[in-house]
Amino acid sequence: MSRFQPAGPLRGTLRPPADKSISHRAALFGAMCDTPVAITNYLYAEDTLSTLDALRALGAAVHIQPDELIVRGVGLRQPLMTTNELLDVGNSGTLMRLLPGWLAGQAGARWTLDGDASIRRRPVDRIARPLELMGAKLDTSPGGKPPFTVEGAALTGIDYVSDVASAQVKSCVLIAGLLADGSTSFTEPTRSRDHTERFLMGARAPYERDGTTVRVSQCDELELEDIHVPADPSSAAFFVTAAAIVAGSRIVLEDVGLNWTRTAFFQIAQRMGAVVIADLEAPGTETPHEPVGEVDVAYAPLEATEVGDEEVPFAIDELPLVALLGVFAEGETIVRDAAELRVKETDRIESVVDGLRGLGAEIEATDDGFVVQGTGRLRGGVFDSRGDHRMAMLGAVAGLASEEGVKVENMTAASVSYPSFESDLRSLLSAS
Ligand code: S3P
Repeated sequence: MSRFQPAGPLRGTLRPPADKSISHRAALFGAMCDTPVAITNYLYAEDTLSTLDALRALGAAVHIQPDELIVRGVGLRQPLMTTNELLDVGNSGTLMRLLPGWLAGQAGARWTLDGDASIRRRPVDRIARPLELMGAKLDTSPGGKPPFTVEGAALTGIDYVSDVASAQVKSCVLIAGLLADGSTSFTEPTRSRDHTERFLMGARAPYERDGTTVRVSQCDELELEDIHVPADPSSAAFFVTAAAIVAGSRIVLEDVGLNWTRTAFFQIAQRMGAVVIADLEAPGTETPHEPVGEVDVAYAPLEATEVGDEEVPFAIDELPLVALLGVFAEGETIVRDAAELRVKETDRIESVVDGLRGLGAEIEATDDGFVVQGTGRLRGGVFDSRGDHRMAMLGAVAGLASEEGVKVENMTAASVSYPSFESDLRSLLSAS
């Protein structure tokens, strides 16, 4: 249990840790290439180490060197070295949903995927459905959950319409599509983060986009140049929130990924009144490149806002932080169209509402979001992360702006995406 006391302003400059989504994909795409790929600034956190372990188990060589990670892949369609293996995805939903896209195309091979208690509550039927339509066989546990087996097959391309905007499901289908006969399209109700598409473009895979539909065609090999992973805007968001609610703060975050499908939270915070200055990428940009830049944040009085379906997929992991901003904003802050929060590492509607209410916030859950009354104050108390990394870090930030401090139970969960979170936070506090 860690204690976070009311604290003075945050000051200084920090480079948040590497992007989790891009790190998973860099390693996975590296493993699917025939020639070695060098990755600088890979995220060494629990989730992305699970990916390296899984790729090693599948025959890729992974060399962690002082300044870079080298992945020597096995090629997209080489028979993978192992079969009948148990692949442990740990806490990682991204690994659990992306990897089967590759495995599904390996005819004659079979793997079982499993993970921790949180992963066993998360749906895999959303990838099982399209992969089975393509010809693979997935055998899930009751309720469409892990553990599950994937039996590879000679796949056939499909046109798949998803009822959920999910980058994980999209990525799984597109990766399987590279191995499938003909072409494969994926249509989602609204756009989701596009890192996989940027990797496909970078690897010169046959890829095209039309609105919310992406299409890939069968491909023999992938070729990637060296990859630099930007700092994670989702990790940066904790410091943006802290600076926005602790009076007198002013911080600069460096090398932050500013891909437009990831930065809605910065715009939400800006709309609420926080001074957030960043050179955001233009919406709709289609490029293999991942843009980076500085995010300059200063405290200012906040006003309530509403967040709905147009922004939700582009701020999905940061929505709990909108609740915390809402506590310190004038008026009623509403997040709707965000039922997907219920199937994250925890049910994040329940975790954020119970957690912040326990600290004295006026917040109510709805089916697909929450409503927060801005009271401008938070008493403090005990906040249970429930083993969810983003909840642990939210509890810590809440403590800084509280009256009595916050004890975060299961703070170590932060290591899933941000092992040095506590020391980085304390460095911004001690620079003031
Ligand atoms: C991710 C996509 C999002 C996000 C998750 C990472 C990814 O999930 O919440 O933390 O790397 O593709 P969904 O695709 O399920 O929305």
